[in-house]
Amino acid sequence: MSRPPPAHRLTTAHLGAAYPFVAEGGLGTPGVYVGRDLLGGAFSYDPFALYASGALTNPNMVVMGQIGRGKSALVKSYLWRQAAFGRGAWIVDPKGEYGVLGRLHGVAPVKLSPGGGVRLNPLDLVAASGRQVEGEGSRRGAQLLASLSEASLGRSLRPAERTALELAVEDVAVAGGVPTVPRAVTAMLDPAPEAARSVRTTKEELAADGREVALELRRLVHGDLRGMFDGPTTPRIDMGARIVVLDLSAVYDSGALGILMTCAAAWLQAALVGERSGPRIVVVDEAWAILTHLGIARWLRSSWKLARALGVAHVAVLHRVSDLRSAGAEGSETLALAQGLLADSETRVVYAQPPGELAGTADALGLSSTEVSLLPRLGRAIALWKVGQRSFLVEHRLAPGERTLVDTDSRMVQE
Ligand SMILES: Nc1ncnc2c1ncn2[C@@H]1O[C@H](COP(=O)(O)OP(=O)(O)O)[C@@H](O)[C@H]1O
Ligand SMILES: [Mg+2]
Repeated sequence: MSRPPPAHRLTTAHLGAAYPFVAEGGLGTPGVYVGRDLLGGAFSYDPFALYASGALTNPNMVVMGQIGRGKSALVKSYLWRQAAFGRGAWIVDPKGEYGVLGRLHGVAPVKLSPGGGVRLNPLDLVAASGRQVEGEGSRRGAQLLASLSEASLGRSLRPAERTALELAVEDVAVAGGVPTVPRAVTAMLDPAPEAARSVRTTKEELAADGREVALELRRLVHGDLRGMFDGPTTPRIDMGARIVVLDLSAVYDSGALGILMTCAAAWLQAALVGERSGPRIVVVDEAWAILTHLGIARWLRSSWKLARALGVAHVAVLHRVSDLRSAGAEGSETLALAQGLLADSETRVVYAQPPGELAGTADALGLSSTEVSLLPRLGRAIALWKVGQRSFLVEHRLAPGERTLVDTDSRMVQE
């Protein structure tokens, strides 16, 4: 059960944070207080209001900047202020730093670790999306597993492999019961004769087509990653809580962090479809770990598109624009994907960037030469906000009561 946040006392200097919808921001729509517009006045922002007014065509945001610039601090206080107005947040938290935010709302983080006893089923989305459009669920499920195996194999799937995977997920979806990754793996290793007939091949041929992919996915089931995403979701997770934190810090150093974050994001997406509880903010901090794999970056983009219909505003935290140009992949698709992800995030918050990133950032975000010259010199907590076509230079301000949210020692707060 979640309880409302405790009342907090603030000085008049923080009136904007205390009464966010009263603060008049430069954007002309009501919003939560963010900080000081360095050209004068308070800066308030609300993606839902801007989207509803037509000022933005999507409510998503990317926050980028070098380490230690205040990206996570901004996101934490933003979520805290939004929560005061009933906007819930679900957070994929690879460093385990959002726990305090949850605890202040009476909710412990969902900690994921190999053998840790909490399981999230990424294939919950098979059933969840299936409720909306017939067949959509297994299509999304197969897309997810294809993306995960592409990331893991380091190459694109061949058409025969993709078909074997799709047939396996379909099979599991229609067979009844909870679709899970182990069931999909089994269905690939030992396909149903009808599945083989539907593509005019034999059971043995179809099994051979899918074998390499199945073995790769088996890693989630039997290998070093087991126990987190390989079965039905643990029932005691309270998705109705205002703040849900998925803490992946136990696997932060794993080479498979991106894959695990994607599984967590996929599960969140399924839960969003089921929950339907009004506007929500979904945060993926350290999102570069996902974006370095072209396959899963593609999947993430398609899920952002889908989420818009559900009233979800996404926030992705990156270091630099080049994170979007997925390392390890080349060519026009990568570039198109990077541009697409940016186009799908009309709010871009840019903290200081190193000189080597300036040209790419300017190019991707369409910055003016004055804006570019500012970027290397921005101090901590100061960012260039591009909201649609408009630009603001904003210093993020913390209220005294919000210090505990961003303190590195905050992990020690009692459960
Ligand atoms: N607006 C702010 N006011 C004061 N201190 C801040 C502010 N934003 C960030 N900080 C401090 O900077 C440190 C690093 O911020 P953090 O958000 O963790 O950086 P990033 O996520 O960019 O790596 C935090 O521990 C916090 O103490
Ligand atoms: Mg951070």
